[in-house]
Amino acid sequence: MTMKRRYLHAHQWPYAVSTLELGAMAQARLPAFAWEYIAAGAEEESTLRANQAAFQAIRLNAQPLGGVAEPALAIQPHEHRWHLPLAISPTGYNGLLRKNADILLAQAAAQNHIPFTLSTVSCNSLEEVADAAPDGERWFQLYPFADENITHDLLRRAATCGFETLLVTIDAVTLGHREWYQRAFKKPGKLFLRHILDTGMHPRWMYQTLWPSGLPGLGNLAKYIGADQTILGALEFTDSCFLKTLAWDHLAGIRKRWDGRLYVKGVLTAETAMRAWGIGADGVIVSNHGGRQIDGVPATIEALPKIAATRPSGGDVLLDSGIRRGSDVLKAIALGATAVMLGRPTLYGVTVGGSDGAARALQIIAGQLKDLMAQLGIARIADITPAVLR
Ligand SMILES: Cc1cc2nc3c(=O)[nH]c(=O)nc-3n(C[C@H](O)[C@H](O)[C@H](O)COP(=O)(O)O)c2cc1C
Repeated sequence: MTMKRRYLHAHQWPYAVSTLELGAMAQARLPAFAWEYIAAGAEEESTLRANQAAFQAIRLNAQPLGGVAEPALAIQPHEHRWHLPLAISPTGYNGLLRKNADILLAQAAAQNHIPFTLSTVSCNSLEEVADAAPDGERWFQLYPFADENITHDLLRRAATCGFETLLVTIDAVTLGHREWYQRAFKKPGKLFLRHILDTGMHPRWMYQTLWPSGLPGLGNLAKYIGADQTILGALEFTDSCFLKTLAWDHLAGIRKRWDGRLYVKGVLTAETAMRAWGIGADGVIVSNHGGRQIDGVPATIEALPKIAATRPSGGDVLLDSGIRRGSDVLKAIALGATAVMLGRPTLYGVTVGGSDGAARALQIIAGQLKDLMAQLGIARIADITPAVLR
């Protein structure tokens, strides 16, 4: 039997002790349709559940009396030193959660000296994020467009704004069936009446998100799709603009155009990883899109070891989907990840507490990781090896 937790109220987020608690707080703060947008997985949500269950199924070897008081969490994969082995995953439509959520997440990442990834379908634009978080390491996630000119213009803007790494997402060419979320809409952009009434029951969300100018549009895409589209109206439209026939040749073309680091996001097999290295990728991101795309694909931590085994010298293997605790970070690194990325945990944080709330999510996970490393006698991230796993 699982014990029902008594979580604090949403406004008490500075006292949240786990990212699960931040999630419960975010659920209380958001109208149902917005909560379901961030929380839901595809179809039966078996992959969504497996992501966390697979981490929990991995047991650790107790290594007492290791004599480590202050483990160091910093890593330096390339030119930048990250203070934590974490990065923020790209998430679209963040303006549903709070005004300027993309900027707030970028600022939380910069404060913690870790990378932030801006989605193609973000509400704040590349230019706004670069202005608001000038010191942070910024990454851009691309959904290639059927109209090549849009793709090329986005790449140019990202490079001009100092976005250093490009993530090309390959697992969302067709959107997954997120039934809970889809059920909220009568037709594209139009919520059912019960959901409209439900928003009225969430005055804090209305204030933090809608006041004074209503729902935002898609900052990066306004110039191509028309600035009058709000995110609700744009959802269907943008999906129809993406390149449905995306193939390795397109990725090779993007590789030629993009001078910075390029990561392929959505890799779940060694074969796909080999194709990514083959087109000259600098990294792969082991991801099942947080269980939002194909229901039934494996948990990312199960897929990781074989993918990590393909890593060429200088290549990065990152992982996301299901990271909720410091122990998950340790397990992923032990099985070959360079670092991990977070989707929902920082979204929960930004929903309840803005930039400080997102930073709280990072600090909760960092605190858990640090304590666990001390308990296991591990002084540095580089010392985390498979020997720590049973
Ligand atoms: C609300 C939401 C929106 C997302 N939007 C995007 C997106 O625009 N582009 C993308 O590549 N991945 C997107 N993802 C997937 C995330 O980048 C990431 O793979 C996933 O959230 C990681 O799983 P986690 O939420 O369990 O940490 C989205 C995920 C969520 C939860």
